[in-house]
Amino acid sequence: MYLTGSSKVNEKQHLEIGGVDTVELAKKFGTPLYVLDEWEIRRRMREFVGAFKELNVSFQVAYASKALCTKAICYIADEEGLSLDVVSGGELYTALSAGFPKERIHFHGNNKTLEEIEMAVDQEIGAFVIDNFYEIELIERTAKEKGKVVKALIRVSPGIEAHTHEYIQTGQEDSKFGFNLFDQAQEAVKRVMQSKQIKLLGFHFHIGSQIFDMEGFDKAIERIADFYQRLKEQYQMEFPILNTGGGFGIRYTDEDQPLPIRSYVHALVEFVKNHFNARNLTFPEIWIEPGRSIIGEAGTTLYTIGSNKTIPHIRKYVAVDGGMMDNPRPALYQAKYEAVIANKMNHTNTEKVSIAGKACESGDMLIWDIELPKPEPGDILAVFSTGAYNYSMASNYNRVPRPAMVLVKDGKADLIVRRESYDDLIQYDLVPERLKSKKMIQSK
Ligand code: LLP
Repeated sequence: MYLTGSSKVNEKQHLEIGGVDTVELAKKFGTPLYVLDEWEIRRRMREFVGAFKELNVSFQVAYASKALCTKAICYIADEEGLSLDVVSGGELYTALSAGFPKERIHFHGNNKTLEEIEMAVDQEIGAFVIDNFYEIELIERTAKEKGKVVKALIRVSPGIEAHTHEYIQTGQEDSKFGFNLFDQAQEAVKRVMQSKQIKLLGFHFHIGSQIFDMEGFDKAIERIADFYQRLKEQYQMEFPILNTGGGFGIRYTDEDQPLPIRSYVHALVEFVKNHFNARNLTFPEIWIEPGRSIIGEAGTTLYTIGSNKTIPHIRKYVAVDGGMMDNPRPALYQAKYEAVIANKMNHTNTEKVSIAGKACESGDMLIWDIELPKPEPGDILAVFSTGAYNYSMASNYNRVPRPAMVLVKDGKADLIVRRESYDDLIQYDLVPERLKSKKMIQSK
């Protein structure tokens, strides 16, 4: 059995995370429940920051909040000195309401709306990451109206195909993100450089997510270095920042073998050194945007086991009280997960079962063919590595309320997202008067 962070088996033979018995957590807060291991989040943030510090290079580690964006997480990222990558007005609003320092917020997105741009310009955030020509126009116009100068990076698509699921590749040439190197990017630089409203700090790329092989980063940085060199010749100036995005892989199952965080960072810095030195370019400040590698393995989801169905000689389905609504990743990306029965940690695995979600959808399967101790109704199933892109992609499909989230540390559990209620679910529903009056007439 593989346990990460502060997870262990306690004297009751229950799964414990952050010094808290998960079976007690399920009782107290209900299930499904997202459990986040605070020390593990902080340890990972510190490993990123520490790795840059030991190499003595200038850097910013921006937590990619799309992986999991709540106010408490923004507080932790701030305390650990991280910057924040946001991709929408909603993420920006969350960060601002958590008091996250504006100058350390970077704003991404391939179709930032005028309202979002106005909000970010008003708030004087640290940097825009400009994605397309229309956005240049919008930022230029908005900043001019407001009499402001904004800082920006330009996002380029380096034409690299990362070895990862097609839906989470982003750096290939045929991508909706960023300006293609070199033609489009060259034109984008020209336009931004002409603007009095935008100060261009450098460039950004992101080749994909859940990447283990660093070769794609090496190639991308080589291409970007060529681009910096061309710009140096053309404009007789160098840009001080290079943002290499996020994407560092984590462990979901034994099939995944991530590098230690420190090694990811060291490899990146090495690539930048090699390619920039070879072209006599000034070593830039490096910004990175890890999301999954900070929060993914720090999260565990607790479910209660309910019904089951055995199809002789074929399969046994065991259903839990959540599913694709709280974790759409298996349905979307065929993502694989590991799990244990939290109240049976000392039992041996005796059955091969498949874990089904409760959504009215055949594709709602959380785990296929997992070995577990005999699962019984009322048992607590703990699914690991659910910290990233679970709550942030959760839905109310089938009108199922979204789960609560607790942050555990040193034997204490604090609620950081409250469970949705049925009233929450109907709070935005409106009924036109004409429908109401019809019902009143019928009921008379
Ligand atoms: N920076 C940019 C520009 C990104 O687009 C992303 C992720 C990140 C940073 C953070 O990447 P990470 O370090 O978390 O891999 N929903 C998918 C993942 C989508 C990732 C989108 N962009 C999933 O559940 O696998």
